[in-house]
Amino acid sequence: MIETPNNIDSFDTVESLQKTASDQIIEYLHARVTQNGSASVSLSGGSTPKRIYEQLSQSDLPWDKIHWFWGDERNVPADDEQSNFRMVRLAMLEPAGVPDAQVHPVVTIPDDPKRAAMDYENTLREHFSGQTAPAFDLVLLGMGDDGHTASLFPHTAALAESNRWFVENWVEKFDAFRYTMTAHAISAGLQRWFLVTGAAKKPALSKVWDSSASADEFPSKLVTPTRWFVTQETLP
Ligand code: 6PG
Repeated sequence: MIETPNNIDSFDTVESLQKTASDQIIEYLHARVTQNGSASVSLSGGSTPKRIYEQLSQSDLPWDKIHWFWGDERNVPADDEQSNFRMVRLAMLEPAGVPDAQVHPVVTIPDDPKRAAMDYENTLREHFSGQTAPAFDLVLLGMGDDGHTASLFPHTAALAESNRWFVENWVEKFDAFRYTMTAHAISAGLQRWFLVTGAAKKPALSKVWDSSASADEFPSKLVTPTRWFVTQETLP
């Protein structure tokens, strides 16, 4: 049975979703920095957030007070067109002049993804030292047509990981490793916002909101978001 969440903002167009999400991110991060002196964000890859990052780059965010991390990455060099870091660098980091000290990319090691994932886990544990989980102020998440989020793809080993915060994850359909935060690490974020656009997402979203569906088949079910930003076309 589909149980539609009560924390949905739906939009007629991708553009209106992206503009509102940008505005809300800016408002929220200003508040967190005012309250705590700093903030930390876990970024998503994909096409939906890219325009949001471009809009953030034009804002008055306190760039020297916010730390940027990646919720997932591809197992490619940082200058590869597939790199999520490269996408964010071009969309936001360079245009906004974000200081390098605020930017914490996954340092990929294509030939040794386990080492790279363990190194990033250490980066996270240093930043969130003394905490039992990475309590990001904000975790941005997308959802794929198959119901994946971050790089938690259906039927992959990372779904069952309950100790590590960040892992290498073999994804058969890509015949490649990905890097991803684990579901429980993502769920430790204070705010977890899903950004879902495109009619092709409708079947998966129906399953993610269906209590009888399997999280192994639709891994976005493993994360309880605090907000959904969706376009009307994705709604069941
Ligand atoms: C990635 C993302 C991935 C993305 C979804 C949705 O590395 O590609 O982390 O999980 O969020 O595939 O992507 P779109 O926003 O392009 O639909």
